[in-house]
Amino acid sequence: TNKSTLPYAVNSKCDLVDLPPGTNTKSPVWSWNSWDPLEEVIVGRAENAFCPPFDKAVQVNCHEDTFTFMKAQASKPFPEEVVKKAVAEMAEFCRILEAEGVTVRRPDIIDHSVPYKTPDFESHGMYASMPRDIWMVVGDEIIEAPMAWQSRFFEYRAYRTLMKDYFRKGAKWTSAPKPQMSEELYNEDYPIGKLKVRFEMAMKEQFLTTEFEPVFDTADFIRAGTDIFVQRSQVTNDFGIEWMRRHLAPKGIKVHKLSFGDPHAMHIDSSFCILGPGLVLMNPDRPCHQVEMVKKAGWTILTAPRPLMPADHPLWLSSRWLSANVLMLDPKRVVVQKTETTTIDLLESFGLKAIPVDIRNANSLGGGFHCWTCDIRRRGTLESYF
Ligand code: NVA
Repeated sequence: TNKSTLPYAVNSKCDLVDLPPGTNTKSPVWSWNSWDPLEEVIVGRAENAFCPPFDKAVQVNCHEDTFTFMKAQASKPFPEEVVKKAVAEMAEFCRILEAEGVTVRRPDIIDHSVPYKTPDFESHGMYASMPRDIWMVVGDEIIEAPMAWQSRFFEYRAYRTLMKDYFRKGAKWTSAPKPQMSEELYNEDYPIGKLKVRFEMAMKEQFLTTEFEPVFDTADFIRAGTDIFVQRSQVTNDFGIEWMRRHLAPKGIKVHKLSFGDPHAMHIDSSFCILGPGLVLMNPDRPCHQVEMVKKAGWTILTAPRPLMPADHPLWLSSRWLSANVLMLDPKRVVVQKTETTTIDLLESFGLKAIPVDIRNANSLGGGFHCWTCDIRRRGTLESYF
């Protein structure tokens, strides 16, 4: 349903024309959706990125053609050359965000290779590259995800300095219950198999994680005011979705579960990326089973153009659909991968203003602009759009 007008009006200052007045001035953390004017953001770091153990949790997310690499690289640093380039790309991305008027904060540089042992498992860390996976802001509250990978259990440590600062300045800081991550959390019989097998499992909503305890990555959620969308995935279970539903209900927020034909379901933001009030970029390879509900709400659906990334570009933890993983700076300005010209053309044909940035090497670590960031403060109020 690509038709070339925005379903909302934007003024010259890029604010929503009818943006209601009233912003919480007491908290440094304040955001209700993925498009209101962005004032402060956390941008992840590539420094010290360390390859996770090649366990089942990693295998069900990795594409078959990366298996050899992920197995050989397991529990070693990610290749130095790529990490170095990713660090430089992120520095440039931060510079561009600042030039657009956004305050940028970064996690601490820590050693992710340190081995750890809990009563239930042994592992080591991975990175602090994708703040979207572990943090979600809902109003003045920042929620820390339990995560579902053993190699990500202690990922929050890199963000402690930031969270303590936000808390001292007035934010509400919540951590979801810490999972045990014992073997009961993972379905031992889950087939690793070929793409076709994974696709069939995903269509039946069968995933590696069990319902042993609540787990989720916050990147499986995407916010649109009083409505938040979520997918059951390899890392987010129904128990975790229910935790979030009950946690947010007192704020008047409804959590809607969506499902997609995605053989590597992990993080919703390259399948269903909300660009503005009633505007969503959808992935044609991952049909959304609830698309009628979205259409009935009067939303405009943009079909994401096929990624232009060369097939041989190393992508160790994601698909090429990072092309659809864009970051809104406000309802008009959108950060897009510089080389994804068809995506840029589509968004611009709708009246959006693309800000092209190149993070090709950073993509290799598993994320696009939406993954590499967590919006901390957007000007706006809680509204209903759905
Ligand atoms: N796991 C998904 C989402 C990444 C943002 C993918 O690989 O496309």
